[in-house]
This record gives sequence, C-alpha cells and structure tokens, in this order.
Amino acid sequence: MDTKINRRRFLQATAVGVSAGSVGLGKRSNNRTKSPHVFTPKLISPVVISDTSGYRYRNGGSYNAVERAFKGIIEGEDTLEALIAGVNIPELDPEESGIGYGGLPNADGVVQLDSCCMHGPKKWAGGVAAIEGIRTPSLIAKSVMELTDHHLLAGSGAQQFARQLGFVIEDDLNTEKSRALWLEWKRRIDPEHFLDPSKRKGFKDSSGDRDEIGARMRSKADEFYRAGLAMVDEGLIEENSFWGTINCNGISPSGDICGVTTTSGLAWKIPGRVGDSPILGAGLYVDGDIGVAGSTGRGEANLYNLTSFLIVENMRHGMSPLDAGMSALKRIEANTVESRLLNSRGLPAFDVRFFILNKKGESAGVAMYGSQQKKYAICTENGSEERDLEGLLEGSPNE
Ligand code: GLY
Repeated sequence: MDTKINRRRFLQATAVGVSAGSVGLGKRSNNRTKSPHVFTPKLISPVVISDTSGYRYRNGGSYNAVERAFKGIIEGEDTLEALIAGVNIPELDPEESGIGYGGLPNADGVVQLDSCCMHGPKKWAGGVAAIEGIRTPSLIAKSVMELTDHHLLAGSGAQQFARQLGFVIEDDLNTEKSRALWLEWKRRIDPEHFLDPSKRKGFKDSSGDRDEIGARMRSKADEFYRAGLAMVDEGLIEENSFWGTINCNGISPSGDICGVTTTSGLAWKIPGRVGDSPILGAGLYVDGDIGVAGSTGRGEANLYNLTSFLIVENMRHGMSPLDAGMSALKRIEANTVESRLLNSRGLPAFDVRFFILNKKGESAGVAMYGSQQKKYAICTENGSEERDLEGLLEGSPNE
C-alpha cells in the first residue's frame, strides 16, 4: 500500500455505511403529511492514530501498524481486530525494543509484557499484565475480552490461560539487541560484577581503571532509573522504547471506536511492576459514544491520574481532543510534586503522550513536552504520516 490508501476501496467501504443507515418518513404534524425525506447519517472519515512505533516499524512487511489497521477498517474488518492486527506488526518486530518480542526486559533480564484493548460498540474490554513468553500480548488481551467474564489476567495465570488457548509459550522473548542493552545496564549499575570486556585492559598498576569504576559506582549511574535514562541520553535506547508501548486507536466509517495498547513496559523495571498499559482508564480508555484516548510514557503518571479516562470524560463534557488532552496533561503536572520527579525547572522530569480520537473522527496527539522532533502517527484516506505532537511544556524533561 506504501502510503496511499486505495481510494476506491475507501469509497466502497464508506458506501456500506450509507446503505446501512436509516431511511425514514418525516413526522406528521397538523394532520398534514410532509414529503418523505431521507435521513442520511453523517459519514465519518476513518482514522487510525498511534505513537511513532505504529509508523516506523514494518517487521519486514509492506505495512506499518496504522496502515494495516486502516486497511482492515476500510475493508470492513471489525475495528478492534484491525487495530490488533496492526499492533501485532511492532510486537513481532525484533528491531522494536519497547513492545512484544525483543522488548526491553525487567531488572532480572526477563521480558514481561502488558496489554489491554477496548471495543467501543460492544463495550467489551480485556487485558493482561506481566505476562511472559508470548510475543503478542494484545492477542491474549483480546481473548480475555472475548472468552472470559474478566477484564484483567496477570502473571503466570495469564500465561496459563494463553497456553490453554494454544498460544506458543517461549522461554525467552529477548533478542540479541534487548539482551545486549540489558547487559550494558547491568554494567552501569553493578560494575563490580558485570564487566565490560572492551574495558578490561588494565592490570596491576593501572589504578586509572579502578578509579573509573569507583567513580561510576558513586555516580548517578548507580541508580536504576537514572542509569536507564542515561542510556536514552546517549542514544543507546530510543526514548520511545524506555517506557515501551504502542497505543493504537481507530474509528470506522460507521463510527465504531476501538483502541489497543501493548508494551514491554518500563525498561529494567522491578520484576512484577505493572504500568498503565493494561489498566483500563490509565493506558487506554474507550467510550464508544464519546471517543478514545491511550498513552505512552511514564505509566505511573497515568496510574495516578487515570488520565486516559479523564481525557474521554473531558471530551464527554464538550472539549475537543486537543483541549481534552492538554487539560489532562495539566492535571498530571499539578499532581507531580515530589522533587525526585521534577527537573531543575520544577517541571515533570518525564514525558507522557496521548493519542486521542472523538466520535466525529477528530484527532490529536499531545505530549507533556513537545518539539518538532516529537511525533505521532496517523493514517487517513490520504495515507500514513507522522505529525508533530502538541506539547504542554517546552524544552526537555531532563533540563
Ligand atoms: N507506559 C508504559 C509503562 O509505563 O509501562
């Protein structure tokens, strides 16, 4: 498909929406019959929106996530099924190190994945948290949604559920790349035990090496979190991959709104840590009558503020997607008061991003920190593209 979506297919798909719409007679009044007229439902231009991993990764195939999802939607696939088929692409792509297979592992070197999905028209939802051994946790979240009375399965129970359904459970979802980055992180936080062969040049009299190790142990790199962020600053880890995550949301020509979020979560997290991504209202929220919001970035900010839910509620009260997102970002900023979470300017020392659609098909991508380098992905009938995220604050979270 490259970037252009087949317009004829798009028009055929939207025509289905028209023919399925209501055709009715005008009401009688004063015993006079008005001429019959046709109530034509207003068609929605379908849209799929996500963070940049939905644009940049194709797993060697023809489509990125937003294109695959959009194609499915205009061809009449169920909106959520199309979105999940879309996010399966970066989940399976070994080059993408924040989602699914090859996602950055936890502190023990184990890849633990989170995901949830919500189906607007059906008002169904499902999620999995801290699941191991399955490359596509979004498919297990979908199975929780479709096959159980529950909304969330976690840990070994979620894995057992997947095994019972016939999913292949793998011993290790690390790739060479994710394992090498984990090892580099271990060297930074525990340099006495994890050695870098390329730096083992000093013997007996070379006190310089010992000094270097001592300095590193005393430096900020001995803190788990800061060591990870330093690797982002140095370009070893893509910023997007540090908190992982793809959130992908869409609306069909007939107005069906759905969303899915899937992630390997915070890099080097404490084993068992669950972020916002599998939690309804935090990393994703859909109300089929209002809209959808989902997130990437520091999950704890969304767990505390239930921000995706807040954005949908803001839209319920009449805000546009952009205003709803900005208002929620201000809430996060106001609730971030601990100095460990603030930068030298007294502003949040982290980023968090939202991908928002309303029932009319209007969309927005917003971030705590915006700049021309910060993008989100969108696919419309004109094809897929990256657009600038609208930032609440200027500059960088680290300054
Ligand atoms: N937003 C992804 C996470 O914090 O796990």
